[in-house]
Amino acid sequence: MTMQPILTQHVREPNSFTLDFYLRHQGYEGLKKALALPPNDIIEMVKQSGLRGRGGAGFPTGMKWQFVLKDTPKPKYIACNADESEPGTFKDHVLMERNPHLLIEGCAIACYAIGAKVAYIYIRGEFYHVQLALERALDEAYAAGWLGKNIQGSGFDCDVYVHRGAGAYEAGEETALLESLEGKRAQPRIKPPFPAVAGLYGCPTAVNNVETLCNVPLIVKNGAEWFTALGPEKNGGPKLYCISGHVARPGVYETSMSTTMKDLVFGADFAQGMANGRRLKAVIPGGSSVPILLPDQLDVPASFDGIQKAGSLLGSAGAIVMDDTTCMVWLAENLLHFYQHESCGKCTPCREGTDWLLKILRRIERGEGEMRDLDLLQSVADNINGKTLCAFGDAAATPVLTTLKHFRHEFEAHVREGGCPLHAGWRRRGTAAAAH
Ligand SMILES: Cc1cc2nc3c(=O)[nH]c(=O)nc-3n(C[C@H](O)[C@H](O)[C@H](O)COP(=O)(O)O)c2cc1C
Repeated sequence: MTMQPILTQHVREPNSFTLDFYLRHQGYEGLKKALALPPNDIIEMVKQSGLRGRGGAGFPTGMKWQFVLKDTPKPKYIACNADESEPGTFKDHVLMERNPHLLIEGCAIACYAIGAKVAYIYIRGEFYHVQLALERALDEAYAAGWLGKNIQGSGFDCDVYVHRGAGAYEAGEETALLESLEGKRAQPRIKPPFPAVAGLYGCPTAVNNVETLCNVPLIVKNGAEWFTALGPEKNGGPKLYCISGHVARPGVYETSMSTTMKDLVFGADFAQGMANGRRLKAVIPGGSSVPILLPDQLDVPASFDGIQKAGSLLGSAGAIVMDDTTCMVWLAENLLHFYQHESCGKCTPCREGTDWLLKILRRIERGEGEMRDLDLLQSVADNINGKTLCAFGDAAATPVLTTLKHFRHEFEAHVREGGCPLHAGWRRRGTAAAAH
């Protein structure tokens, strides 16, 4: 099943990022419509649409907005999560760079709905060129009266600022993001209180992903029913997928969540199957933090519920595809290298545990492991999983738990044979350095 792109329909066209182009394609009509309605109606519409957060957890956006404390003298905020640091995820920057006014419109509608006057777009530090594109679009929006005081004569004021991130994966976790926005080190907060009650500067705040906010103008413009009809029940709307790894045509693809994961990997409209005619070994469907799916588990809708039923999570919809040359011990080691480096250090199980996991994995990969290391890996990962303030801990334990579950025999082979059997094969072919 395929669907004509909506969010990314024009991103390959010249000047798609300009206000002029955006207005010629019905841009800002959602905001115009929203400003003529009571804010609660917007929240209700987003609830009816069933829009679920595209940042990772799939939490219903309308419900999140409804939780934002109403009766308070404090200001309220929208914090747009543009950190996009999950390995395998590269969709949000496409929207920001090529369709920035859609995000700006989404921020303004979200502010109006929850009673905020300010939105911050917290953008990944490395996205300097994307920040410039966004700021250029913000200048245009202010100059044309789509932001600032008394937007289009409605009496509604709204400012949107871009805040450059500090370069940490953890800064994408919503409470760590708020800490970083406040100028502090990006470490998670204890929840509750949730950001909707005490967020930025202790004020009620809704944190939403870029792609999530980009769907909002479409829902307001076209109606909740239009949105739900685009996908399976409770998984409506257009969805962006990032397909990377050993596929013939890696890239960002937009389709309905009725599309199966198998189609995304093998379909002619999507990644077009394995590169170099190799055999598929495994897919991590939702960014590096979620469990592996095996080739016979892919014939399921690539929706929040479909992927969960198959035993994994849709997460950030960054599907990492691996062929039969991939050593799963190396995969776990590679990912733990990332998580050990990125652990913010606040929670002991994560700070210490990721270091231990990496050391043990390196030992096994070097051929110095023992069979009892496999149980040790399991035990250390179990002692991180679910035992930290934020979901980073679960994310860091997952590569070990999922590779041990599906590919324990590869770990055993490393111990038995004193190193990586695949690695040795590549070395014989003279490509070891490049492959590992
Ligand atoms: C370690 C970690 C990193 C995260 N990184 C991101 C990120 O880069 N972008 C993002 O939108 N959400 C990220 N999240 C999820 C956010 O905490 C949060 O759920 C999301 O911004 C909520 O927006 P949504 O409801 O629109 O999905 C991360 C979560 C964790 C635990």
